[in-house]
Amino acid sequence: MTQADLKKFHIKSFGCQMNVYDGERMSELLVDQGMSAAKNSEEADLVVLNTCHIREKAVDKVYSDIGRLRRKDGTSPMIAVAGCVAQAEGKEISRRAPSVDIVVGPQAYHRLPELMEVAKSGKKALDTDMPAISKFDVLPSRGKQARPTAFLTVQEGCDKFCTYCVVPYTRGAEISRPWTDLIDEAKALVDGGAREITLLGQNVNAWSGEDDKGQNQGLDGLIRALDKISDLKRIRYMTSHPNDMTEGLIAAHGEVAKLMPFIHLPVQSGSDRILKAMNRSHSSQSYLDILDRMRELRPDIALSGDFIVGFPGESDQDFEETLQIVRDANYSQAFSFKYSPRPGTPAAAMNEQIEPEVMDERLQRLQALLNEQQYAFNQQTVGRRTNILLERQGKLDGQLIGKTPWLQSVHIISPDLKIGDLVEVEITQAGPNSLTGQIKERLAA
Ligand code: SAH
Ligand code: SF4
Ligand code: F3S
Repeated sequence: MTQADLKKFHIKSFGCQMNVYDGERMSELLVDQGMSAAKNSEEADLVVLNTCHIREKAVDKVYSDIGRLRRKDGTSPMIAVAGCVAQAEGKEISRRAPSVDIVVGPQAYHRLPELMEVAKSGKKALDTDMPAISKFDVLPSRGKQARPTAFLTVQEGCDKFCTYCVVPYTRGAEISRPWTDLIDEAKALVDGGAREITLLGQNVNAWSGEDDKGQNQGLDGLIRALDKISDLKRIRYMTSHPNDMTEGLIAAHGEVAKLMPFIHLPVQSGSDRILKAMNRSHSSQSYLDILDRMRELRPDIALSGDFIVGFPGESDQDFEETLQIVRDANYSQAFSFKYSPRPGTPAAAMNEQIEPEVMDERLQRLQALLNEQQYAFNQQTVGRRTNILLERQGKLDGQLIGKTPWLQSVHIISPDLKIGDLVEVEITQAGPNSLTGQIKERLAA
C-alpha cells in the first residue's frame, strides 16, 4: 500500500508519557510507509492529534485544535484523532467536528495506514477496537533515537477503577508486554543511541511476566535484566500505584545502581475517607509506610506524586489531611489538579460536588506547599557533585540541559560537550524549577 499523495505528517501528543510513546511509534509507522515528518501542522498533509481524556479541559483543547487546522485558503489537511478522546468519544468526534477524517483508539493505531486509505476515498474511518493481536506485534521495530532518553511502554491499561478516572475505559484492561519483546526493544533503543530508558505503564509496577527461563518476574526482575545492557546507563519507571509497590522493587532501589533514585508514586489525597470514596485501596498510612521502607534502602530517593483537590464530598478537614500528608511525605516535585467530573465514571454521579471557588482556593494552597518543598529540595543540592545526562540544547549559546538522577533539570554552558554525554557537575545554583551546574568531569557515556 502506498500513501503517494500524503507525503508529510505531523503528530501532536497530549496527556501522559504513554501518549508520547504512542506518538513516536505512530511516527515510525508513517516513516515506514514512506512519509516524512513535517516541521509543523501547516506543512503537513496528515495531522494526528494524539489526545488525552483525563480532564474536561484536555478534551476541550482537542476541539479547539481541530478548528485551528483549517487553513486560510479554506482547505484542511487529513485529520486523524488518536488517543484517549478517540477511544472515549468514537464517532461522536466526526459528528461534532466534520473535518476529522480518521478516529483511531490507542490499541488500534497500527492500522493507521489502512484507515488513511479509507479516508483518501472520502469516507470517514473509525477504529476503536481493542484487538486480540497486540499492535506491538505488527509495528515496525525501533530505529535510531534522536535523543539519549527513551520511553518504553511495558504495561498498558488499568484494572483499578478509581472512581474519578477514565483510563480503565480508554486504555482497557491491564496487560503486560512479554519479557523478550521488552528486552529486544530496550536493546534496539540502546543500539539506536538511548542511554536512559524510562519504563512506562499506567500502573507500571504491576508489570509481570515470565523471563526467558520461564520464571515469573515482576518489574524489579525486568529492571535487573535491563541493568545488564552495558551501554544503558540509567533506568527509570512511571507511574506506580502504591498497592503494586512490591518488596522486590523497593529492594532494587537499594541494589541496582542504574535505577535512578526517583519514584513517582501518586497518593491523590491524604484523607482516608476520600481515598476510600476514590476506590484507591490504600490508606494514607500504608502510603507513608512504603516511603519509609524505600528511604531506608535509598535515603536520597526523590518523591513525586499526583493530587486531586475537590473530589466530591471533600471537606475542609479532608483537605487539611492532604496538606498534612504532603508535609509528612515531602515531595521533590508533584502534579496537582482540580477534580474534573468525567462522563461515565462513578464519581461524576456522586452528591456533594465541590464549588469551583473552593477548588481554586485549595489548589492554590496545595501548590504553594508543593512549590515550597520543590524549591527546598533543589536548594539542598547546591554545592553537591552529581552526574547529569545531557538531553537537549538550551536557549543560550553553548548551553546544554541535562537531568540529575533525581530528575531535576540542570543548565550548563560548555561548547565542547554534546547531547548524550554523561558528565559530572557541581551544582552552583538552584531555582524553583531548575539548577545551574559547572562541569567537573566527563564520564564514559
Ligand atoms: N495511573 C496513574 C495516573 C493516571 S492519570 C495513577 O494511578 O496514579 C494521571 C493523574 O491525573 C492521576 O494521578 C490523577 O491525579 C489525575 N486525574 C485522573 N482523573 C482525574 C479527574 N477526573 N480529575 C482530575 N484529575 C484527575
Ligand atoms: Fe486511573 Fe486509578 Fe488506574 Fe491510575 S490507578 S489509571 S488513577 S483508575
Ligand atoms: Fe490522558 Fe489517556 Fe494518558 S486519558 S493521561 S492520554 S492514558
